[in-house]
Order: sequence, then C-alpha cells, then structure tokens
Amino acid sequence: MNDSGTERPLGRSGISVPALGVGTNRWNTGTSDQVRFTDTLAAALDAGMGFFDTAEIYNEGRSELALREAARQDGRPVLLASKFAPFPHRATAAQFGWALDKTLERLGRESLDLYYLHWPHLPRSVAAWMKAMASAVKAGKIRAVGISNCDVAQMRRAADVLARYGIPLAANQVQYSLLHRTPEIDGVLDACRQMDVALVAHRPVGKGAIGASSPAGSGRTALADTLREVAAARSATAVQVALAWLLKRDDHVIPIPGAARPGHVRENSGALSLELSEEEFAAIDRVSAPVPGADASNAVSKSAR
Ligand SMILES: NC(=O)c1ccc[n+]([C@@H]2O[C@H](COP(=O)([O-])OP(=O)(O)OC[C@H]3O[C@@H](n4cnc5c(N)ncnc54)[C@H](OP(=O)(O)O)[C@@H]3O)[C@@H](O)[C@H]2O)c1
Repeated sequence: MNDSGTERPLGRSGISVPALGVGTNRWNTGTSDQVRFTDTLAAALDAGMGFFDTAEIYNEGRSELALREAARQDGRPVLLASKFAPFPHRATAAQFGWALDKTLERLGRESLDLYYLHWPHLPRSVAAWMKAMASAVKAGKIRAVGISNCDVAQMRRAADVLARYGIPLAANQVQYSLLHRTPEIDGVLDACRQMDVALVAHRPVGKGAIGASSPAGSGRTALADTLREVAAARSATAVQVALAWLLKRDDHVIPIPGAARPGHVRENSGALSLELSEEEFAAIDRVSAPVPGADASNAVSKSAR
C-alpha cells in the first residue's frame, strides 16, 4: 500500500513510512515463536505496515535478530528503526559506533532507515550524542536520526546540533495513547508540529489495555464504553478506533503498536481505513482528556523502554 493517506513523513528527512508501524520489543530468538514472528511481519507487509521498531536492548539484541530472520524468510523490503542505549558506562563516540555496528550486524543491514537515541541520559547530553549520529549519517549507516523519551528542550537542542550538519531531526518517539495523552500537555506534540518532526507513538494501545473492558483496570470505564460504542457503530474494534483517533489527532503522529501475532497486526491495520467523524473524535476526546499537571513528564523508567 503506497497510497499517501497511509504513509507519513519522518519529519523533513525525505523518508516516508507507513502511518502505522509494528513494535517488536517482545520478539525473541531461541524459541519456537519464529514462525509466528515471520507471519506477523508478512501480515504487516500485506497490510501496508512494513515499518518495524526495535532496539538493541530488547531481549538483549534478540528482537533485532528475530526481526532479521523474519525479514530474511519473507524476502520483501522492510523499513527498520532501532535505538542506541546511552548506558552510564557509554560515554564516547567510539562506543556509539560499536553499538550501531552491532545493531547493523544483528539486523543484517548496511544502513538503518531510522536510528534513535533511546532516552536522554547523563553523562553525555543529547546534543553530544547527536554529533555521533551526524557522523553515522555521513558514513551512510543511518538514513534518518531520531530521539526518544525527550522533552521539548532536548528536542530543540538535538535539532540545533543536527542542523549544523545539514541533518533534520526526523522523530521523537514518546509514549502516547488515549490512556497517556501527556505529549499534548508537556508541549511535545506542539513542538513536533512546529519543528516538523514525527511523533512516533510508543505504547499506543496501552500495552493491550485499550482493548480490554476497563482500560488500565479502573477509572477509565467511560473511555472503554465510548470506544465500544463507536466500534459497534462502525463495525470496528475498540483498538482500531483508538488507533484511528491517534492518527486523526495530528498528521505528525505515527503509532507503532507492539505485536507478536499476525491477527493483532491485521486488526490494527483496520485503523488505516477508519476515518472517524468529528463527533466520534470529540466524544473520545472528552472521556480521555489529559489532566494538566497530573503526568506532564516524558521521562520513563527503564522498564518502560
Ligand atoms: N522508546 C521507548 O522507550 C519505548 C517504550 C516502550 C515501547 N516502545 C516501542 O513501542 C512499541 C509498542 O509499545 P508496547 O509494545 O510496549 O505497547 P502497546 O503497543 O501499547 O501494546 C502492545 C501489547 O498489546 C497487544 N496488542 C497489540 N495489538 C492488539 C490488538 N489489536 N488487540 C489486543 N491486544 C493487542 C500486544 O500483544 P502481542 O504482543 O501478543 O501481539 C502486546 O501485548 C514496542 O514494541 C517498542 O517497539 C518504545
């Protein structure tokens, strides 16, 4: 599917990706699940969602390996994004280069479509890591540069450093779902619009809670009821409605629901053709409205990465 309605630009990088991708943080090797991962990748490509998100830290590199094997078995081209982990013991450009080379090796690629700084962490600032990113772009190892879990100030610093090398900041990957609308109140969504940077939404279905009868366990039954009502009226599912809402919220948003089974990918892809009405959008907006001051940080704990 290459129809412009189902693709979105990674900022001003010149690269377009499917409007919905696939998160692979639960993919692993050494299990009998490889067939399921390969089928999941094939379902994603069939549905026009061939944009896969991984990271060196997901199952200690085994998500990248499982992704490589699935892509090898399928044979069709895929768009791949991975992430550099700025652990405290990593402080040099050489360590960055070594980590990137290992990721490329595990993925069986000479270059990545998108490479993120996974989270901001001292001792090296976001700006310092962006210099290493710029070198990797010049070396042809990365097509586009992203950051993740960064606030507006960090976005601006990253973009400023990259601009010195003539490279646009392509994406900020942050948690964003109907259960976590923080990017609307901490300024990240507005900054993505102003700076023309993609907001890649991780955890877009609340780790599967969105489809449950009471998202997040309690206190969101109005949201669950509204999603169910809209879904019933549109012969869709609650997850499809939730993803369609994120897609309609802003053209810069690219959700990457995690999926390790083809049925989930096929279901999620239904959101690409589900155009919510203004009334449906507003009804869901009301019952999921973010509360300023309640959770206004994009900082994540290690377990959330
Ligand atoms: N940058 C960061 O710090 C960061 C943090 C978290 C995640 N991420 C990335 O973002 C991706 C998505 O986040 P996430 O996986 O944590 O959360 P998520 O996408 O909100 O939820 C994934 C969970 O929902 C389930 N699911 C998917 N589609 C479903 C459907 N249609 N119906 C019911 N359940 C469904 C999945 O099941 P199955 O797995 O069984 O298919 C999985 O258990 C990750 O895979 C990762 O690539 C990045």
